[in-house]
Amino acid sequence: MTTAFDHIASDYDNDFTHGSIGALQRQKVWDYLENTLPDRQLSILELNCGTGEDAIHLAGKGHQVLATDLSQKMITIAISKAEKLGFAQQISFLQCDLNNIANAVFTKKFDLIFSNFGGLNCIDAMSMQNLSKVVSRLLKPEGRFIGVIMPAFCLWESVYFLSKFDIKNAFRRSKRGPVMAQLDKQQVETWYYTPARIRRLFQSEFQITGLCPIGFFLPPSYLESFFKKRSGFLNTLDRIEDSINAWSFLSNYSDHFLIDLKSNKTSSE
Ligand SMILES: C[S@@+](CC[C@H](N)C(=O)[O-])C[C@H]1O[C@@H](n2cnc3c(N)ncnc32)[C@H](O)[C@@H]1O
Repeated sequence: MTTAFDHIASDYDNDFTHGSIGALQRQKVWDYLENTLPDRQLSILELNCGTGEDAIHLAGKGHQVLATDLSQKMITIAISKAEKLGFAQQISFLQCDLNNIANAVFTKKFDLIFSNFGGLNCIDAMSMQNLSKVVSRLLKPEGRFIGVIMPAFCLWESVYFLSKFDIKNAFRRSKRGPVMAQLDKQQVETWYYTPARIRRLFQSEFQITGLCPIGFFLPPSYLESFFKKRSGFLNTLDRIEDSINAWSFLSNYSDHFLIDLKSNKTSSE
């Protein structure tokens, strides 16, 4: 099966991963991981790994990663990057649909399950609730699930579209039900979640231990061309972003938010 993401896979790194905004937003996620992950080798399951940028980063920190994605094209690119950079031993890959993850076969448990940059926005609330159960089952006692998700409102986005008198797009994220997001020439169903909704969907298996905005001052990546000629301004926004990452309420208004959930399972269970 070919997915909408297969069609953008070959341009994804150019357009997002190596774009100045995408790279700065990703660095915020990596800073969070650096500051909060324990200082030992972890077994990590990555969901919706895309072109493998995070899997390679985590392998570079000494962890073992099983990286999964629905798009075979994304995985093929990720494999070739991992091989080229010498991480083939530390990263294995598996094609896996988040909507069908309960039927996937995993032969071990994980310290961390991680999903970056909106892969979780590709599933509806019912699949998200099922995912919380699967993730809980796949985690070791007191394991963590960290997701980076697009919230139901983004201040940057509303200001940008309102400045173009585009009311419909200014508040598109808050629509009930899926929003058709444009991916090159394809459209993908996208669900936006408030941090409170994610907390509710995961609350029977997890407790929240961290929440921070990713892209409150830093803009959404589709503004890359505007900021290309304004790198000084972007760097200033980046520095301001560093000073507000403890202000968790801004997660409701940012491009993405990072939510860190700890499994309620203890080693005695
Ligand atoms: C915006 S990209 C993020 C990729 C990567 N995590 C990153 O940080 O660059 C979203 C990814 O989610 C994957 N995806 C979309 N729907 C999915 C699904 N139902 N199951 C698994 N992966 C999915 C896409 O193939 C794509 O690689």
